[in-house]
Amino acid sequence: MKVSVIGSGYVGTVTAACFAELGHNVVCIDIDPGKVDMINRGQPPIYEEGLEELLKKHAGKNIRATTDYDDAVANTDISFICVGTPSDDNGNIDLGIVKAASKSLGSAIGKKDGYHVVVVKSTVVPETTEKVVVPIIEQASGRKPGVDFGAGMNPEFLREGKAVHDFMHPDKIVVGAIDQRSDDIISALYANIKCQITHTDPGTAEMIKYVNNSFLATKISFSNEIGNICKKLGIDTYKVMEAVGKDSRISPNFLNSGAGFGGSCFPKDVKALIGKAKELGYEPGLLESVINVNEVQPLMMIDLLESRTGELEGKRIAVLGLAFKNDTDDIRESRAIPVIRALLDKGAKVSSYDPMAADNMKAIYPGIEYCDSAVKALEGANGCLVMTEWDEFKGLCSEFKVMHRPLVVDGRNMIRCEDIEYVGLCW
Ligand code: UGA
Repeated sequence: MKVSVIGSGYVGTVTAACFAELGHNVVCIDIDPGKVDMINRGQPPIYEEGLEELLKKHAGKNIRATTDYDDAVANTDISFICVGTPSDDNGNIDLGIVKAASKSLGSAIGKKDGYHVVVVKSTVVPETTEKVVVPIIEQASGRKPGVDFGAGMNPEFLREGKAVHDFMHPDKIVVGAIDQRSDDIISALYANIKCQITHTDPGTAEMIKYVNNSFLATKISFSNEIGNICKKLGIDTYKVMEAVGKDSRISPNFLNSGAGFGGSCFPKDVKALIGKAKELGYEPGLLESVINVNEVQPLMMIDLLESRTGELEGKRIAVLGLAFKNDTDDIRESRAIPVIRALLDKGAKVSSYDPMAADNMKAIYPGIEYCDSAVKALEGANGCLVMTEWDEFKGLCSEFKVMHRPLVVDGRNMIRCEDIEYVGLCW
């Protein structure tokens, strides 16, 4: 099939490259000529494992990129909207980019002869596809939904860093279409993937995405709360959760307590669902607690640190890990951000190390020290906070000897070293 993909961020580029790998002919649309140029040269505008290989293989053959909606829509049968859905100042979803993309798409559909299908892949709150996107397309194109154009919502469940793998080997595919014709066309794109398709209406598909992320975030905040209670009792929460996770109704995944969840999805999506619930007159107390636990959790590391060092004013504190999780340079909502803020507010001098994310953190904290190794960050420090689950932190031990005081507060249950003053966050 001929597919166009609007937005060349991490979801759009991965979707485009994977559809090409599945044998479809893909046109990427982005308003940024720099990204368009990169894709046409086979270079991914973002880093994802396996993405460069796919783009190199397909660029100039069955993938090309353009800034021109009319060209892309005229030459494809179906368009995926994969643009960003940031939070507004109140944490609610900001649909500005989705609306702008829908308008451009609608105007291109209006100039095209024949039927076209529009699919929302961006994470949007329930009702958006049918009450926002479809009416904008209808108005901008002058065409009728269900007659001249089809529409649907097809959420993504891609982990950053593993997005190509997750696309090609999904646990589930959800197609929420406005009618059978749209459903058949969207579903046919996935014919070469071995996975049962869940067929729904668009609102249900939108809700499935939010519930998926909110449930995983809830598992983490739940594990953190249990971890905090276990810590007070001197019980190893990892042993507790290992046993609890053996219950097939619970599963062992996403039960790791620690400094909390970050990233561009969990915090934003839980807040957006809270916003939508409130708009409907419902107070989602459980979801609000999921966010509250996640905001307090990293700051408990500062309390643990201070309980050992006393006042932090003038003390050098090493922060190991700046990315929101391992194997990425993404710092969005990283739990290191509130921790560094608290350290600076208390007058500490922060030295930091991250294998990939230092440059991104410099935009938020230009004044802290960025080192090119863990040892350099640890040199002369009065304490160390481990914020990200990078593999290379697992082996750290003799390196802590360069500290003024080898005190380690571990936020990710990573460090196994006998010769230090070790404080686990929940264990
Ligand atoms: C998440 C979901 O896992 C994907 O399924 C979803 O498609 C994606 O959001 C999205 O909506 O686009 P991602 O943000 O890449 O993917 O991150 P995860 O690998 O899920 O990790 C999220 C955070 O939870 C990290 O900060 C991690 O450190 C933390 N975490 C994870 C824990 O604290 N404990 C755990 O047990 C697991």
